[in-house]
Amino acid sequence: MNSVAVIGLGYTGLPLAREACRAGMRVTGIDENPSVTASLNSGHSHVPDVTDADLTAMLDAGFRASVDESPLAEASVAVICVPTPLDGAGRPDLSHVRRAASGLGDRLKPGTLVVLESTSFPASAADFFRHLCDRVVEAGSARGAELAKLLENTYRNVNIAAERRRRHVPRPRSWTPGRRAANR
Ligand SMILES: NC(=O)c1ccc[n+]([C@@H]2O[C@H](COP(=O)([O-])OP(=O)(O)OC[C@H]3O[C@@H](n4cnc5c(N)ncnc54)[C@H](O)[C@@H]3O)[C@@H](O)[C@H]2O)c1
Repeated sequence: MNSVAVIGLGYTGLPLAREACRAGMRVTGIDENPSVTASLNSGHSHVPDVTDADLTAMLDAGFRASVDESPLAEASVAVICVPTPLDGAGRPDLSHVRRAASGLGDRLKPGTLVVLESTSFPASAADFFRHLCDRVVEAGSARGAELAKLLENTYRNVNIAAERRRRHVPRPRSWTPGRRAANR
C-alpha cells in the first residue's frame, strides 16, 4: 500500500489527505503547529472543506496527524502544502517551504515521490529539491512542471470566477492564492 505524508495540514493539505485516505492509502499528516495536530487527532477539523465526519472516517482509516517528522522516513509519497504568504515586498515568503524541504531531506528514502503544492517562483522548486532528489520524473523540466501548475491555477481561477458570476457572488478584492494565504 502506498504511504503518503502530507506536510502542512491547512486548506490545501487536509482535503488532500482526506482524498488519499479515500483512495485507500496510508496517510500521515505532519504539521508544525501542535494545536492543529491535537485538534485533528481528536476529530475536530479546522478546515471548512473537511467536516468532522470526514475526519472521523480518516482516523478510522488510520490517518494520524503529527508534529514529529519521523514518519517521513516511511513515506513513498511526500506532498508539501505549507504556506507561502507574501512578504513585505509582495513576494511569496518561501521560508516554510525551505524548512519543510530540509526536514524532508534529512529523512527521504530513495524512490520517494516529492510533490510541491505550495505556491513558488518559477525554477525555485528545482533549487529546493536538487540536493534532495536524484531524479525528477514526468515533466521535461522543473520549469515545465511549474508552468503546468500555473496553467492549472489559471483554469481554477477562471472556473471560480465563472461560478461566482453564475451565482452573482461579488469578486473578492484580492484573490490570488498567495494573497489568500497572506490575508487569512
Ligand atoms: N498547487 C495548488 O493547486 C494550490 C492550491 C491552493 C493553494 N496552494 C498553495 O498551498 C500552500 C498552502 O496553502 P494553505 O491555504 O493550505 O495554507 P494554510 O495556512 O491553510 O496551511 C498551512 C499549514 O502548514 C503548516 N506549516 C507551516 N510550516 C510548516 C512546516 N515547515 N512543516 C509542517 N507544517 C508547516 C501550518 O501550521 C498550517 O497548518 C500555499 O502556498 C498555497 O498558495 C496551492
